[in-house]
Amino acid sequence: MSVEKRTQSIDLSHHLSELSKARLTSPLKGLMKYFNQPGILSLAGGLPSPAYFPVSDISANVLVPESFALTPTESSTSLSWLWKLFGTSHNATKERTQAVTIPKYPAIKGDISLADSLQYGPAVAQAQLQDFLKHFISEVYRPAFRDWTVLIDTGNTDGWSRAVMTLCNPGEGVLCEEWTYPSAMASMIPFNILPVPVAMDGLGMKSDDLENLLSRWDPVSRQMPRPHVMYIVPVGQNPSGSTMSVARKKQIYDICVKYDVIIVEDDPYYFLQLGMYAFKDDRSPSATPSGKPSADESKRYVSTLTPSFLNFDYEGRVIRLDTFSKTIAPGSRLGWFTCNPVFAERLERQGETSAQSPCGFGQAVITKILTHWTYDGYIRWLRGLRTEYQQRRDFFIDCLAEEFHLHAVPAVAGVWEGCIMYQASSKVKKSTGMTEKYSAQNRTMFSFVPPVAGMFVWMRLHLDQHPSFAPGDRDTLETKLWTKLGENGVLFGPGWMFAANAMAEDPDHNDSGHFRISFSNVEFADLKKAVTIFGRVIREFFQEDL
Ligand SMILES: Cc1ncc(COP(=O)(O)O)c(C=O)c1O
Repeated sequence: MSVEKRTQSIDLSHHLSELSKARLTSPLKGLMKYFNQPGILSLAGGLPSPAYFPVSDISANVLVPESFALTPTESSTSLSWLWKLFGTSHNATKERTQAVTIPKYPAIKGDISLADSLQYGPAVAQAQLQDFLKHFISEVYRPAFRDWTVLIDTGNTDGWSRAVMTLCNPGEGVLCEEWTYPSAMASMIPFNILPVPVAMDGLGMKSDDLENLLSRWDPVSRQMPRPHVMYIVPVGQNPSGSTMSVARKKQIYDICVKYDVIIVEDDPYYFLQLGMYAFKDDRSPSATPSGKPSADESKRYVSTLTPSFLNFDYEGRVIRLDTFSKTIAPGSRLGWFTCNPVFAERLERQGETSAQSPCGFGQAVITKILTHWTYDGYIRWLRGLRTEYQQRRDFFIDCLAEEFHLHAVPAVAGVWEGCIMYQASSKVKKSTGMTEKYSAQNRTMFSFVPPVAGMFVWMRLHLDQHPSFAPGDRDTLETKLWTKLGENGVLFGPGWMFAANAMAEDPDHNDSGHFRISFSNVEFADLKKAVTIFGRVIREFFQEDL
């Protein structure tokens, strides 16, 4: 959308919670605007003198933005998975780094200074970080409303919990996907703010189900007013791995306009848009793209990414949560909100009376890395990361394909409706010349859809195929298999943890259990080992006659 066509956000202040409306400006923080006036002699704040900060400078060796290759075949200048598999682990000699330093008092005005970064600072972000983020958002997300505002937080966990407190009153409900990120639920349930699950298909939350739910909402039978807030993970959804199409996002957005719902878009996997999985033999080597950061490459890459809800948000009803957890490091505890100025101001008030602002060391180092790399360098870094995780996903699914018969079938209902899913059954295995006791069976033990984004494979266990399955037995069998795997040294995420409403009797899920499997952090040799163990344990499990 061209800049001149963008609209101003509408007044959505009626969504603010009672708690949020009651927040006052922190009295001392209210003086902050005067502190920075040139020439002011400030004797007002309890600011320690930077002369006594015990750090004169911080130096770091930072990986070059082109550290990771853009295609699996190209060699990386850093620790690619091949190095981790065949090289000595943590072979730092392969890394290409550049040295950066953040002085307490920089020689050049406007450079990041520890004197400022380690001082009490603005809750919105240090100035250089604000500038970087504003440029980044306008290039990558291109919000459809003009007066979008940026405010940092300590990551999306903090972002969501602040958004809930800012928007919801006890006794209200929050619309969410039927399977969702448990920590998000855990941060609201103790405040008696309850999840209201909406059915999903292969593209995430279903728009027709959302419309039905909202249009037929009966506050009396539901004992809850119609929800006015949605929590959604549209890319590489946690746990299902689904990614929402542009058309679905527009439908969901339009329904939210119709029923006056605020969308909180929690999007940590946005830059892990991995593309479709293809079996090893069907993969064709892609042309090697340019490895150097450049404005043209950044533009081209950004245009391949599915748009954020912000891109359709002509009213300012989206609060987007971004985090550096998956793109730089979770320990940085740094992320940001992009939202309308009214919400941003209330979120800022909340932030300044809790964390005040994210840690100054972290802000300084991340800001230094980003400004050293520049916008194009950071985009190049993100492109390399994408390829790395794509290889991990491909390797993990290749291992499943080696271990099991995978039968491709279109999913006609449920969470994968509209996708090609793989049904896994046992493979006859030869070991030391003997046929293993596991015979090839037609019994489907589990199924999955290779995720096109994120870090997870969501595995559906066909527990109704278990010899001792009885209706209502799903949780027992899921836990039994999960425990057996744990005893054999493999830990998966148990499915029940991700049910938005664990208490709900859902006929669609009665005969199946689930595991969430993360392929992001285990090295390749261990991924392979885990799949081999899983293969043995699940075959034994499905052969059992209890
Ligand atoms: C959907 C979702 N939201 C938030 C988070 C946590 O993000 P952060 O580290 O920024 O708090 C995660 C991490 O796994 C996640 O999957």
